[in-house]
Order: sequence, then C-alpha cells, then structure tokens
Amino acid sequence: MNIPNCPVIAIDGPTASGKGTVAALVAEKLGFHYLDSGAIYRVLAVAVDQAGLNPDVQSDLERIISMAANLPVQFQGTQVLLDSVDVSEIIRTEAAGVMASRLAVVPEVRAGLLQRQRDFRQVPGLVADGRDMGSVVFPDSVLKVFLTASAQVRAERRVKQIEARGQQADFQAIFSDLMARDKRDSERAVAPLKPCDDALVLDCSAMPIEQVLQTIHNWAKERI
Ligand code: DC
Repeated sequence: MNIPNCPVIAIDGPTASGKGTVAALVAEKLGFHYLDSGAIYRVLAVAVDQAGLNPDVQSDLERIISMAANLPVQFQGTQVLLDSVDVSEIIRTEAAGVMASRLAVVPEVRAGLLQRQRDFRQVPGLVADGRDMGSVVFPDSVLKVFLTASAQVRAERRVKQIEARGQQADFQAIFSDLMARDKRDSERAVAPLKPCDDALVLDCSAMPIEQVLQTIHNWAKERI
C-alpha cells in the first residue's frame, strides 16, 4: 500500500468538528486530492434507505454488506453520485448521518468500503478526513491530525450549517443526536473514533478556521 511520493495527510475527528471544511482547504492549498470518507458511508446509508433495508434484520444486513462492497458511488467535483443520481444534498441530512453511523459499526461494511477509500491515494498526494484515516485506511500517513471541539461548539456549528441551508434547526435535538453519534462512533469494536498514538490532537473550540488551517498546513509542510 506504500505508494512512493504519494503522501497522505489524515484528518480524523468527531462529527461537526470542522474536519471536512479544513481538510478540503488543506488539500486545495497543497494541490492534493481530497477524500471525504464520511460521504461514502453516507451514500451507503442513502442507498440502504432507498432500498428499504433495516440493518437490524439479519437478511437485510447481508444485502447491505454486499451493497457496501459494490457501491456505485462517484465523486464529480463537489457532486456525489449514487448510480449516476446526484445525492449531494440528501447525504447531508441528519437522518443519513445517523444511518451512516449505524452502518459504520458493522466490520464487514467497513471492510467492503476499504479499497474504495484507498483508491483515492493518487499523486501528488491526498488529504483524507474521517474517523479511521490514520488508524486503519492510511496507517502510513505522513501526518495524522485529530481535530476536535467541545460538543457545545460542534452542535452550535451544525445549527448554523442547517440554518444556512434555509432549514430550521433544533439545538437540543442536534446536541443529543451528536452525543449519541459520538458515543456509537467511539465505543464500536472496530476502528473506534479515538486519536492514534502518533496523531497530533488539535482542539479548535476557540480557534478561527484560518488558524486551524494554518496550523495543519504548517505541520504538513514540515513533513512533505
Ligand atoms: O464524517 P461524517 O459525519 O460525514 O460521517 C458520517 C458517519 O460515517 C459517522 O457518524 C461515522 C461514519 N464514518 C466512519 O465510521 N468512518 C469514517 N472514516 C467516516 C465516517
């Protein structure tokens, strides 16, 4: 898996920590490719929902596992396609996030999505964001960042994102959903959400995005 001259920068962290925005900007600044691994889990969630499958039912779960291994997902610029249909907006709903988190506890689902994520590693390099980029998908990353923020700040950011889309957001519901998602992502047996031993932890609760971006960019420049 060690591709010469193809460094990976892994940015992992909990939901709404800002890792997606930051990772995309770091990638742009470095001229690297960008992988939003959460989007792949979310596309699977939408596919499962559209097929009317329930991961708690064993026969459905078997179908979901086979869907994960053959998921017809494509990234075209900022567009995410499932079977050539644009799902860029629907994957961002809270319902898709919750279903993605439920599916992500299944080891066979994670295994099915592994190679698809590794395929994003292409010259001149990759910035990948998710939960297990540094621990499982790209363990030889040149830089591993664990980007976090307090649950209060993350819930406030999520509310702003939803309101910016012209939708109404209920802070309490979002806060509880975020805590439940953190718990499920952190306590699962396979690839739980936690900083790797060799990750640099950055708490951005009180940092403007420019400072987060600059900090990670500086760390990256020291290593590539
Ligand atoms: O980063 P996100 O909120 O878009 O991710 C949605 C869900 O997908 C998240 O709750 C857990 C799962 N996920 C994962 O388990 N591993 C990843 N590398 C990325 C996402």
